[in-house]
Amino acid sequence: MTPYELIKKKRDGGELTPGEITHFITGYLHGEIPDYQMAAFLMAVYFRGMTKEETTALTFCIRDSGTRADFSRVNGIRADKHSTGGVGDKTTFVVIPIVASLGVKAAKMSGRGLGHTGGTVDKLEAFSGVKTEMGQEEFITAVNKAGACVIGQSGEFAPADKLLYALRDVTATVDSIPLITASIMGKKLAADDDCIVLDVKVGSGAFMKDMESARVLAQSMVRVGKDAGKKIRALITNMDEPLGYAVGNALEVVEAIQTLKGKGPKDVTELSISLAAHILQLAGVGDYDTCETKAREAIISGAALKTFADMIEVQGGSSADVYTENLPKAKFSKTLTATKSGYIVKINAEEVGISAGLLGAGRQKKEDVIFPAAGILLNKKVGDYVEKGEVLATLYAEEEVRFLKVEGRVLSAFTLGNTPSAPRKLILDRVE
Ligand code: URA
Repeated sequence: MTPYELIKKKRDGGELTPGEITHFITGYLHGEIPDYQMAAFLMAVYFRGMTKEETTALTFCIRDSGTRADFSRVNGIRADKHSTGGVGDKTTFVVIPIVASLGVKAAKMSGRGLGHTGGTVDKLEAFSGVKTEMGQEEFITAVNKAGACVIGQSGEFAPADKLLYALRDVTATVDSIPLITASIMGKKLAADDDCIVLDVKVGSGAFMKDMESARVLAQSMVRVGKDAGKKIRALITNMDEPLGYAVGNALEVVEAIQTLKGKGPKDVTELSISLAAHILQLAGVGDYDTCETKAREAIISGAALKTFADMIEVQGGSSADVYTENLPKAKFSKTLTATKSGYIVKINAEEVGISAGLLGAGRQKKEDVIFPAAGILLNKKVGDYVEKGEVLATLYAEEEVRFLKVEGRVLSAFTLGNTPSAPRKLILDRVE
């Protein structure tokens, strides 16, 4: 079948064979299929979906598009976590050091910003000198040395996801259950970790806006992981407001470091501890309560902070930058104040994420360059009371003109009311 015929088959609701999916993805990887045909294919999948068999075939195609890590020289159990994408989600920088400080090796493959959500790789690159592309030997050495290492998809690992990810980011084809499943699980299976905990986000800042679709996504990923013999669990967690106060690469890294120092926002701290405890439990460290206590102690003792500093050092950065929170600062800032008094009943996380992107924290086109210091620092969270004239948020950018595009958007992301809304749980469900 020609690429045209394959796109048409999917567009018209047909089911592709594993061979057809492999042929199409391999052709794209080798430059024989142009971006515009792949973009059309992704949009057809977005509207038509994929069967379980098609989703598995696409996942395996991404896994096999590069090297499958051979971690036989990494001692001990290897674990990984992955979020389906949220606004202000910096938990990787807390969870991975916690579990690594407790002896569970964390060899993690992450991605860049996607749609309105930030990406771990972009955040990590906010550190001066940090490398996020490594070959297998370097990756194994780094994991053995620091206990943890976080890299991106590369020419060597899951290259098909690297290309598809960048294209989905700018073609409104991110929020598709089969495409997210294949992207995340393709990377997880290529990294070949033993235990995987997935953080499936639901709410205004997530790709899944309701519980039903979050559950279907969680089940889809857990099924693929189980079929591949992995110990895997998914938590469905609240993304109805940004996680923590910081949104934007360097700002989020600073907030993660503060969390590792025991001074982080409550939601970031609690979600990170819970994700870490689930990983530790899957890795056989103990029952859930024991693992949660150990995770808390790793923060209190400073062990997790030290592991994060070691990780930054083995990835080419400076551990001193972690301890001193030395990350890029924006040239310009602008505060936004409340136009009336009231309780904050809602913060539309997607609007905050899009605005941070427009300030320079994300890409509008594949070739766009990220400004690491750009972003938004919220001053208030849902449930807080705000007086008229009080600061709601501060915007950061390298060019003042960018503030004009987002001021109104960020202000209208806040909904104020006369009574506080009932607090919403952070962890909403779990899929095994
Ligand atoms: N994270 C990924 O790696 N891929 C997706 O599609 C969404 C979130």
